[in-house]
Amino acid sequence: MAVSIDLGLRDNGQPALLDLEELLATRLLVQGNSGCGKSHLLRRLLERSAPFVQQAVIDPEGDFTSLADRFGHLVIDAAEQTEQGLVLAGERVRQHRVSVVLNLEGVDVEGQMRRAAAFLDGIFAVERQFWTPMLVVVDEAQLFAPGGGVEVAEEARRGSLAAMTDLMCRGRKRGLAGIIATQRLAKLAKNVAAEASNFLMGRTFLDIDMARAADLLGMEKRQAEMFRDLERGRFMALGPALARRPLAVRVGAVETESRGAGPGLMPLPETPREEAHALILKAAPAEAPRPRRLPAAPPPDLLAQLAAARPAAPAALPPPSAEEEAGRRRAQLGVLRTIMADPQAAFRPVLALHQDYQLRCRIEMLPGRPLDLPAFRRLLTLVLAGVTESLEARPEWPLALEHAAALPEDRQGAYLLLARAAIEGAPCPSDLAIARVLGSVSRGRGRSALEFIEKQGAIACRPDAASRRIVTIIGPGWETAPGDPEAAAA
Ligand SMILES: Nc1ncnc2c1ncn2[C@@H]1O[C@H](COP(=O)(O)OP(=O)(O)OP(=O)(O)O)[C@@H](O)[C@H]1O
Ligand SMILES: [Mg+2]
Repeated sequence: MAVSIDLGLRDNGQPALLDLEELLATRLLVQGNSGCGKSHLLRRLLERSAPFVQQAVIDPEGDFTSLADRFGHLVIDAAEQTEQGLVLAGERVRQHRVSVVLNLEGVDVEGQMRRAAAFLDGIFAVERQFWTPMLVVVDEAQLFAPGGGVEVAEEARRGSLAAMTDLMCRGRKRGLAGIIATQRLAKLAKNVAAEASNFLMGRTFLDIDMARAADLLGMEKRQAEMFRDLERGRFMALGPALARRPLAVRVGAVETESRGAGPGLMPLPETPREEAHALILKAAPAEAPRPRRLPAAPPPDLLAQLAAARPAAPAALPPPSAEEEAGRRRAQLGVLRTIMADPQAAFRPVLALHQDYQLRCRIEMLPGRPLDLPAFRRLLTLVLAGVTESLEARPEWPLALEHAAALPEDRQGAYLLLARAAIEGAPCPSDLAIARVLGSVSRGRGRSALEFIEKQGAIACRPDAASRRIVTIIGPGWETAPGDPEAAAA
């Protein structure tokens, strides 16, 4: 069924159409300076396509929540959800085919990145049977896929960028059509912008944005100068779902109201000066509520404190004996196992776990320096995979480690978990158990890690008569007992 969405009018008075099926395959980038009408355009597109296709809107300002009343979108207030909750919500949205607005209003920048990434991860990682067509609209996309450095935790930035890259680069097969809008093309990650084949370019002032736009559209820079003079609501359209040659479009009216429209001018109330003084400067109530928008106090910089407090290393100590080494490692493992005994710990960022670990090492006065981040990561992988000393003592284990080392670092934990089950003859871990080793609560992530490792030729999976899963470790041929892929994470 070919469906065309009417965006507005062309200069010749004909309707400007957007081919919805083509859009699903080729994605869309909207760019233009503040106030040029990007959000209005997205709203027109969402309203006109709502009857035909499922939609998810990543909405940093809460502009789109009014779609709920007229078109029945579910509004998810991200501020009230955990990241884990949002992964699940993303999966369920796909399973039940519900259109949603993820309202990120009132969440700080880093929180917006983390929550949007969690939700997109859920949408992306859902089982294949739920890969149905869906528009995923991201307004202010430069917030989630910034081109340069931003002042948030590196791992939050990476997670958000990865989710946006997945959406734009690998979404098509999963039925996901990314539609992203940005004020500043130059601030959007290049690889994310480059995956869109359709463009709607609005008024653009800055040379650097103009140059990027010309580059993407394959235009001369001089031709791109026309973007400067576009009025509000006018866009140049180009791409397989829009037009073969640049086409001027005047975006039409919308049915729902934007909460993003700037307030209009209005006369000031006439307040006598004394009254104004009393109104503005009266004593604060005892328990003044904290303004929502203030950023949370930054956490104390534990690393800096630790570095300052650590005594300088004495000149030359004799290298520790093998026995001392083994003792130290055991102590490190002990500390790490205590931290990981909290069931939620597996889902915390590695950086936070590392800080926790360093602090505990100090408190427990462990000899030697705490592990640096890469070494800590390796040890954490072992702990998450449930590797015990008795397993490490088994003759098979060195071979398992050797095979694991051939895989990318972020898949090694999953492999070791499977190898452990196979060596011990335990049931094959479930998708959720595999996801947990990766720090995720998404079944889909667990399953895709398993599929990845199988594709690398490191394992082979097969079902038994009861549809339970058996994994064989290729090479040594160790085999897990049958396990239920759908089981809880244990
Ligand atoms: N095609 C249009 N027809 C009528 N009004 C429009 C049109 N496009 C935009 N507007 C109005 O112009 C104002 C700014 O538009 P909009 O909020 O869509 O801009 P924007 O590009 O999203 O800006 P920002 O980047 O700051 O979010 C809004 O009040 C909107 O209703
Ligand atoms: Mg806007």
